[in-house]
Amino acid sequence: MKAQILELLRAEKGIVSGETLSAALGISRVSIWKHIQKLREVGYTIQSFPTGYQLKRSPDTPFPWEFPGRESTLFYFHEVSSTMDIAKDLARKGCPDFTIVVAGRQKKGRGRLNRVWRSAPGGLYFTLVLRPQMPIIFSSRVSFLASMTLARVLREMFEIEAKIKWPNDILVNELKISGMLAEMEAEADQLHFINIGIGINVNNDPSLSEPKASSLKKLLGMKISRKDLLLQFLDEFEAQMTNADLGNVVSEWKRYTITLNRQVRIVTHQEASEGIAVDVDNNGALVLKMADGSLKKIRYGDCFHQDE
Ligand code: BTN
Repeated sequence: MKAQILELLRAEKGIVSGETLSAALGISRVSIWKHIQKLREVGYTIQSFPTGYQLKRSPDTPFPWEFPGRESTLFYFHEVSSTMDIAKDLARKGCPDFTIVVAGRQKKGRGRLNRVWRSAPGGLYFTLVLRPQMPIIFSSRVSFLASMTLARVLREMFEIEAKIKWPNDILVNELKISGMLAEMEAEADQLHFINIGIGINVNNDPSLSEPKASSLKKLLGMKISRKDLLLQFLDEFEAQMTNADLGNVVSEWKRYTITLNRQVRIVTHQEASEGIAVDVDNNGALVLKMADGSLKKIRYGDCFHQDE
């Protein structure tokens, strides 16, 4: 109902009478008033006039009713521990493919390799529950498809040179704008779900605690709509998940990366390796050319470009 009320108010731009709303939606004027009150409570500015209502301002909050067609699969929370935890819980309980958990802030945001992901208000924090039908060995390709899609969306929407640092960080001018975390559960060769968590620095400023990070607002010098960015990313990523040839994902992804042909240091819990990043194989492993000329494949780790 909220989606429909907002649609009618937005279509009209001016004042819409309570009568028009109640006739269009088939509910009483009192019910309309109650819905309007609820919308006001969560941040919409809707003015009342003797002749009706006018929408003056919408908050930049990704409420489910702002995503037509996704109302029953998108969950928004003002604050959570981590969207990864909520998404895992929903996935284990059997939620549908492409369920989305979004949070305004996270108290225990998680990064890769057990790092903390600071999640201040203004950023975009979400986890997607995906249930692709594919052998487990191909699962890493889903994260590569996600980072490539996000780089494309950022380029299209903001005309910025979004690039990917292996495996799935998005950088602009060598500064980190977004990070990605994947968790999956499987049994034998049966994939139950892959959850992809994405944090995007939108209107927050991470640079005080992370000098090598920035935000879209800092880069572009203006506030950016998290709602529009999420809408665009979800539509494009869902289309990609349906149509893309996963066999080709990594070779496509290579067009966006700035890690190849650079001297890098890869750090895992066990070891650190240095070499020239010469390739990424079809399942996303980085191929390093070591000082002695040998090749080493690395499946996961933190990547540091050494020639910055
Ligand atoms: C990284 O670069 O280390 C990955 C960061 C991933 C952060 C996102 S924010 C949404 C989701 N919830 C989390 O706790 N982490 C991911």
